[in-house]
Amino acid sequence: MASSGRLIRHARRLLGSGATPIPLRSDPLAGHDPHFDLFGGVAAGFNASADEVLLAGPAGTGKTLANLLRVYWTARTYPGARVLIARKTRESLTESVLVTWERDVLGPGHPILTTRPILRRVRQSYAFPNGSAVVVGGLDKPDKILSSEWDLVYVAEATELGLVDWETLGGRLRSGAVPYQRVVADCNPTTPHHWLYKRCRAGVCALVPTTHQDNPRFYDRAVGRWTPDGERYLARLGLMTGARRDRFLKGLWVAAEGVVYAYDAAVHLLPAGWEAPREWPRVWGIDWGKTAPTVLGVWAVDSEGRMYLVREVYQTRLRPDVLGRRAKGWVESGAEPPPRAIVCDHDTLRLGFQEQFEAASGLSLTLADKADRDKGIEECQARFDVQDDGKPRIFFADGCRDHEADRTLVDAGRPAAGVEELVGYVWDADSLRDEPVAENDHFCDEMRYVARWVGQNLGGLAGGNPYGADYSAAPDARLPAALRGW
Ligand SMILES: Nc1ncnc2c1ncn2[C@@H]1O[C@H](COP(=O)(O)OP(=O)(O)O)[C@@H](O)[C@H]1O
Ligand SMILES: [Mg+2]
Repeated sequence: MASSGRLIRHARRLLGSGATPIPLRSDPLAGHDPHFDLFGGVAAGFNASADEVLLAGPAGTGKTLANLLRVYWTARTYPGARVLIARKTRESLTESVLVTWERDVLGPGHPILTTRPILRRVRQSYAFPNGSAVVVGGLDKPDKILSSEWDLVYVAEATELGLVDWETLGGRLRSGAVPYQRVVADCNPTTPHHWLYKRCRAGVCALVPTTHQDNPRFYDRAVGRWTPDGERYLARLGLMTGARRDRFLKGLWVAAEGVVYAYDAAVHLLPAGWEAPREWPRVWGIDWGKTAPTVLGVWAVDSEGRMYLVREVYQTRLRPDVLGRRAKGWVESGAEPPPRAIVCDHDTLRLGFQEQFEAASGLSLTLADKADRDKGIEECQARFDVQDDGKPRIFFADGCRDHEADRTLVDAGRPAAGVEELVGYVWDADSLRDEPVAENDHFCDEMRYVARWVGQNLGGLAGGNPYGADYSAAPDARLPAALRGW
């Protein structure tokens, strides 16, 4: 397309090494344009001229940067352009894409930021002096997105969207200030059954793979070597296992298979009788069972947000009031410090389980954040990874069940304790999405509620995907041998 060629030529001049544009005196943005060298897949993605372009690859290859440069140059080149930066939720844009946008693409002191300074969290749009607007929006609040038409839409972490979201956005493209209409996007690979991957396979959307070698921050092309930053980042990613490793490190679209949580007794199991310091906050999780077991986990949390299972109940036919009285006994006898929170599921609200427990224990319950199960699972998976300090972020004290094994469960050959459940908690090979087999999952559910609560309330592993663009924590681990020369 000739017109997009114009933009690209213009951008190339500015991006190309050494070529400094001659600033026009009347140009208020002169001297403020971003300068980046783009390489490999990232450069190909930046230049791609299909109607739908998806940059895919592991976290940290430079996908977001490339798409944001396209956003910038479209707004900069075509006066009156309307560009949308979208993600599943508005909130999730703030600490990811918009950081790269404000810090790296615009840069501190950019006239667009200083003319109307507004907090990133509440920013609705960025006004260019030529009348172009870059608007931010989440599909959780679609009104703003749908009430307008766009010349270019950039969708971050596009696999979070449903096909309907995607098609709706595509339907809001107009032929206006920019001589082409386009949706550009980026994502980490997920399951090959994902609609977006299928759309690419069908040729409707152009899939552009990217690798860490495309990011000069991580890989020095001149000498053909990883930079120290790159070694550290890869070391961190390299500690992952299974499908997550293939997806995040190698950028492969592979189905999740096998166990969901990489539990390894040698790494995660603490000796029987292990006790957490009393001053560490306790968070309890409950998954109510009707015919299934009721599971209660008592978790201690250290100052870095690591979770330690120190006591558990795993029992069928356990009335909520009976459990409540038992819990009251722990606290009154001093066996357990009072919990900061007791997080439980809400499936049984109408059965009155919560009220019965609260009445009997004198403790109050918090309903679990069950909204995004996939994210909760990802957060828990990340806790099992051995981190740069050589430790995982979750531990289980051996034999911490508070009672004798439940005979019904043992006789039926079913898990009778949390760690027994972990090793059988597997991905459903027949499912089209990443979905664990929904049986014997009561401890896993309870653990997930607690992990979410801890992530949101006690710091440590913050919510969301810890392998996103944040690599600010500088780990000291050396690059694992398996990754050298990768
Ligand atoms: N070509 C480049 N030159 C300089 N810095 C880059 C380049 N590509 C990426 N970066 C930086 O590396 C970090 C990760 O890039 P990002 O675009 O967020 O990766 P991704 O979206 O693939 O996870 C960001 O801070 C970004 O500014
Ligand atoms: Mg990104």
